[in-house]
Amino acid sequence: MPSDISLTPASPHVRHGSNIGQPLTRRDGILKVTGQARYAADNHPAGMLHAVLAVSHIARGRVVSLDVVAAKAHPGVVEVMTPANRPPLAEDPDAKTNPFMFRLDLLQNDRVRYVSQPIAVVIAETLEAATEGAALLAPQYEAEPARIGLDADESFVPPAVGVGHPAEVRHGDVEQGLDAAVHRIEVTYETPAQYHNAMEPHAIVAAWDGDALTIDTPTQGLAMAQARIAGLLGIAPGKIHIRSPFLGGGFGAKGLIAGPQILGILAAQLVGRPVKLVMRREQLSGPVGHRSPSRQTMRLGTDAEGALTALSHQAKIATSSFDDFFEPAAGASHALYASPAIVTQHEAVRLDTGTPLFMRAPGEATGSIALESAIDEAAWACGMDPLAFRLKNYAEVEPISGKPFSSKALRECYTEGAVRFGWWERRLEPRQMRDAAGLLVGWGVGTATFPALMFQGEARAVIRRDGTGVMETGAHDMGQGAWTALAQIAADALGLELDQVAFRAGTSDLPDAGIAGGSAHTATAGMALHNAGAAVIAKLADLATGDERSPLFGAGNAGVMARGGRLHRRDDESRSESYAEVLDRAGLAEIEARGQGTADPVLQQHYAMHAHGAVFAEVKVDPELGQIRATRLIGAFAAGRIINPRMVQSQYLGGMIWGVSFALHEEAIADRRSGRILNANLAEYHIPVNADVPSLEAVLVDEHDPHVNALGIKGVGEIGITGSAGAIANAVWHATGIRPRRFPIRIDDLL
Ligand code: MOS
Repeated sequence: MPSDISLTPASPHVRHGSNIGQPLTRRDGILKVTGQARYAADNHPAGMLHAVLAVSHIARGRVVSLDVVAAKAHPGVVEVMTPANRPPLAEDPDAKTNPFMFRLDLLQNDRVRYVSQPIAVVIAETLEAATEGAALLAPQYEAEPARIGLDADESFVPPAVGVGHPAEVRHGDVEQGLDAAVHRIEVTYETPAQYHNAMEPHAIVAAWDGDALTIDTPTQGLAMAQARIAGLLGIAPGKIHIRSPFLGGGFGAKGLIAGPQILGILAAQLVGRPVKLVMRREQLSGPVGHRSPSRQTMRLGTDAEGALTALSHQAKIATSSFDDFFEPAAGASHALYASPAIVTQHEAVRLDTGTPLFMRAPGEATGSIALESAIDEAAWACGMDPLAFRLKNYAEVEPISGKPFSSKALRECYTEGAVRFGWWERRLEPRQMRDAAGLLVGWGVGTATFPALMFQGEARAVIRRDGTGVMETGAHDMGQGAWTALAQIAADALGLELDQVAFRAGTSDLPDAGIAGGSAHTATAGMALHNAGAAVIAKLADLATGDERSPLFGAGNAGVMARGGRLHRRDDESRSESYAEVLDRAGLAEIEARGQGTADPVLQQHYAMHAHGAVFAEVKVDPELGQIRATRLIGAFAAGRIINPRMVQSQYLGGMIWGVSFALHEEAIADRRSGRILNANLAEYHIPVNADVPSLEAVLVDEHDPHVNALGIKGVGEIGITGSAGAIANAVWHATGIRPRRFPIRIDDLL
């Protein structure tokens, strides 16, 4: 993408430099591949003890006894923390004053609300001693029947879904639209519970120094974590220093600080020494969130020409017995297809599980698999090619709100993807294509979409007398490449080269960059950096234009721009001086400014903002064995300005692989009697391995968005998953003539 693309400028002073748009490799790549990148659990402060969680093995009831005596008698065990001796909290962990505050299990009593709930913490000189001590606790329970599975309980209409969207949205008269339809379908799809299973489990190293606390822990939201800890412990946020330079994956599970991390802090407080607590893989299937299972009923009607007359998306989802995060699955139908009548509804059940949470593309991933399958079924009912059907129902404005899109290059994505895939060679009827080995071949398409969100972020920019710069924002690198992409924005914002700017991120003593979630981090933190850079350059320009010794004197503030470490007159670029000269003459060692990154409420009111894409999938199915292989996946995505095409491509490829996972592999299986997750390990929780990953291609489609923010950035992190799973399901139908309605698709579904 050309770097001189014209944008609504946030500041007249900064011309976009040469860093944005470059496919740079990760600046932290060498650190990572050589093992030098320090993850939370790599920290070992002097005197550190090891803490191990003891967790419940029942889903509902009470802990009636723990053999603390036996645990403490084990050599090396220093202390056992239970509800009896856990240090007091300033705030009830079950209190909730905003939707982002999740209720936590911090040993407040003997109640058990789900399997793998922490019931004690054993602290010892070694990991082995703590692990053995935890086993010796041998808890006894009073168990009550567990409510497991979507049929387990009375359902109810939740007050809100996601973090505050209405559970029901209506536009037009759906029943009338269905009555008037020439073709109608009504189908139900089921998706399973999934666990985030990041490679790095939740971990914390906590060290107290008097009333000050230093923490190494992976988080997608430094400032929110700091505030939550401060509230629970009753100490000032400024007393808490969190370091989170790298995350070994987050996917939403590290968006909010989880109970086990707080227990690590309390354990350190109890023993008066630094403590490290690392969750074991199977312990993650409880207190740190998961994706809710869903049952989604789609009712679609079309006229004789294949235009939608009604779209109804009803989702049944689950939450925990004690909190209220609801997967906003039906929301996927709000923004994609034009229909005079759309209704989306949610109903929920309370289960004895940990509270579900955001998991990569929460709502859209779960919901789009149903929507994209149903759209395919409707196309078949109309006798239409599924891509032609999607183009027929292309939304020129956001269907429910009626707002124009800030930009939407979905048509270009369809075209680009279809051409590369060779889509128009496809046979309309299923079970018509075979490869040379006799395998059934199927082709499917799915539309990808994800909202372009922004949260609230801040950055600090400094220009030093030697002409170099510093840019600071408490951003988070989950593996998505924030250290690289944000530094590119930072350098351009200062009119400097990347190696002239010290870019600092990943700790809580920097300005709040906002949560790294909702695919909003690059836009939020990036705009904060952009604005901070513009503000510091403006200050520098003021110094120069107000000083008669400067060649820029009298140019007027807006008559100056920054480039290559120098301020230039706009009307005569040969008249310039370096940042160093300006600061030197002013007798300043450095100059600094802050900037904010946030969505513009006026533009938000006027425009619908979404990224889009089209994913084309080929699968091969063995007609005798039913074995399914995804063999080819081409995704074409348009998401505004691309800061670093290499990183963005990686995000898309990762999302597409998760789509393969959603369609064909991933499922948490709960024992219906005990509520235990039977496959809470990476051997049995299936995700695609290299041999399962098809030939992949992610195409970056040009899109210029003049409204979404001054840099034109939309998010790219979550969209890849949304079209891919449906495309694969549709390809399986096209190969076999059997419509998958339960995910992941299994061999036995095809026999
Ligand atoms: Mo993402 S589920 O917003 O971390």
